[in-house]
Amino acid sequence: MKYSKRILTLGESLTIAISSLARDLKSQGKDVLSFSAGEPDFDTPKMIKDEAIRAINSGFTKYTQVSGIPELRLAISEKLKNENKLNYDADEIIVSNGAKHSLFNVFSALIDKDDEVIIPSPYWVTYPELVNYFGGKNIFIETDEGTDFKIIPMQLKQKITPKTKIIVLTSPSNPTGMIYSKEELEAIYDVIKDTNIIIISDEIYEKLVYDNITFTSPGSINDDMLNRTITINGLSKSVAMTGWRIGYAASKDKKLIKLLNNLQSQSTSNINSITQKASIFGLNGDTKMDIDGFVSAFMNRRNLAYELINNIHLLDTKLPQGAFYLFINIKEVNPDSMAFCKDLLEKEGVALVPGIAFGMDGYVRFSFACGEEQIKLGVNRIDRYISNLS
Ligand SMILES: Cc1ncc(COP(=O)(O)O)c(C=O)c1O
Repeated sequence: MKYSKRILTLGESLTIAISSLARDLKSQGKDVLSFSAGEPDFDTPKMIKDEAIRAINSGFTKYTQVSGIPELRLAISEKLKNENKLNYDADEIIVSNGAKHSLFNVFSALIDKDDEVIIPSPYWVTYPELVNYFGGKNIFIETDEGTDFKIIPMQLKQKITPKTKIIVLTSPSNPTGMIYSKEELEAIYDVIKDTNIIIISDEIYEKLVYDNITFTSPGSINDDMLNRTITINGLSKSVAMTGWRIGYAASKDKKLIKLLNNLQSQSTSNINSITQKASIFGLNGDTKMDIDGFVSAFMNRRNLAYELINNIHLLDTKLPQGAFYLFINIKEVNPDSMAFCKDLLEKEGVALVPGIAFGMDGYVRFSFACGEEQIKLGVNRIDRYISNLS
């Protein structure tokens, strides 16, 4: 069969490849501890599940508006106004099957051949794949530990050309957990204010923030930034709803929302009606106690994993401010992150994600979305693995 050139540009996500390798080893009876999860290990809050059951029993099982039921979009609009200082109306929001789907649709609506998309590295694996798929050009900005893996204005200035269309910002970041402060966002704004550059702001980890750090949405810093930012968020990470599939895009450009609606109406139509009803409880403050519980458990795990990893000779990691990942420097052990991960998985049954999957070799991503006992066991094995090498 002759496949389209477009589909052949897409590779399987390397994070998924490692998880499935770990699963295979497990099914062969090997004792594998996986730290590759990209999702909370908590159950979805009961209130959300109960509302889903109510929706099913009351027959709320038909097609809905393509962009989402009005009360859901209103709940998102209220959430964005109250929690993020983002003034989007309900008709400036479209709900899709996860933030990943929102990003797919937004990239599809914006990227023409050879448009340049600036992506800070390390990056979440999906962005460059989507840019390639839609014929755009990835322009990476390499960051390092010196700036907590965040881009600085000078780097951005150097990468901007007349073809620059979009800058992708992910805060808190997957894989580093770092967060852009209001001042850092203002400095980025100063670089782009005289251009037509669009910001795509992926805020999926926004609720998982530690040490009382304030999360700032890029679109909240001024009106011009709001107008040029497309805000992407969802409920996967904040209320442990990864399997329910809900994400959303918000933009002041009503025409863009209309075009996204057209695209979605010809592809997936509305997301599942039951998820829509139930998700309102994940947005309106009713599950705040559950979310606070998740954040506090994640913070304890982060502190534990951070301390244990930094105690291992030759390993070094920064304290993440948000999300649920440590990005560990392994350069002194083996700068080839894929080789390190394979060897560690085979010898000690510990699954990590190689930094190369996020565009940065010499690092591995350790997800602490698992219990404290597992963290202790896993880190012990990593320690043993490194000791046995020397
Ligand atoms: C940075 C980032 N954006 C978006 C997503 C996708 O989330 P969703 O489950 O809502 O599609 C993920 C999931 O891992 C992510 O890490």
